[in-house]
Amino acid sequence: MAIGIIGLGRLGGALARGLSRAQVPDVIAYNRTPSAAQQVIAEAPGVELADTAAAVFERCDVVFLWMTAAAARQVLGENAEVVARRRPLVVASTTNADLGAFVPTWAETYPNVNLSTGQGVTLLTWVGDVPEPQRTSVLAPLAACGAVYEVGADEIDFYCALASNGPALYAHAMQTWADAVADRNGFDRDLCREMVWQTVTGTIALQRDEGIDAAEVIHRVAHPGASTERGLAVLDEHLPGGTEQVLQAMGRW
Ligand SMILES: NC(=O)c1ccc[n+]([C@@H]2O[C@H](COP(=O)([O-])OP(=O)(O)OC[C@H]3O[C@@H](n4cnc5c(N)ncnc54)[C@H](OP(=O)(O)O)[C@@H]3O)[C@@H](O)[C@H]2O)c1
Repeated sequence: MAIGIIGLGRLGGALARGLSRAQVPDVIAYNRTPSAAQQVIAEAPGVELADTAAAVFERCDVVFLWMTAAAARQVLGENAEVVARRRPLVVASTTNADLGAFVPTWAETYPNVNLSTGQGVTLLTWVGDVPEPQRTSVLAPLAACGAVYEVGADEIDFYCALASNGPALYAHAMQTWADAVADRNGFDRDLCREMVWQTVTGTIALQRDEGIDAAEVIHRVAHPGASTERGLAVLDEHLPGGTEQVLQAMGRW
């Protein structure tokens, strides 16, 4: 069954690259701006580029419409005849997509940009009674690009802080950490960023491989009264309040 993507922006492009990387067959994509489409397709071998959105709806039973909800409604409205006739399962990349004027049921997701690496995360909630085979047809391609978490409609906006906003927040925190050491000492920023990436990757591997939590990692690193313990005390003082402020600012508290 063919998989459609309409909108090859940051998210749709990441999905196209991820599906290509996973060698998922029969992926048909369309983007309103041809130059942006060509750029993504060049990085997503095997993904077929359609000339129109209508062609995607015509050939695909699942269509990822990863754009603002207003744009998704506009695309569905412009293609109302083929959508009503073909009844594809549409997957939005926002909550409250409000697609009921065009399709009886749909999926709402919060994906993240890491889908292109095969290590993405997609949060997903169903709107209406979507039958099992149709659910599988959405879950399978997303799972080829990373982890998928089916969550409640009342929860998805809050989990979004972890997974969908996450890449930007975590990348920013890591870079701030690296650059603070680089700039304070006149060191090379790229070298410091490399050290942070390697250490973060290793810390995740350590926790995964050995099934240990942060407390055990701290136990292995921190000696009483030594530098790590002193640094952790400062984090304990400021991080919870700072985290709450960040979540409140994002409307995810
Ligand atoms: N980026 C993220 O990490 C992320 C995560 C979760 C949710 N979201 C949400 O998902 C949505 C898309 O995000 P994004 O970051 O992928 O946005 P983006 O990079 O701006 O991409 C938007 C895509 O929608 C297309 N589009 C916009 N209006 C259109 C219209 N009227 N008709 C046809 N195509 C149209 C654009 O095509 P053109 O190239 O022709 O402009 C582009 O392909 C947003 O609502 C965002 O809030 C984003």
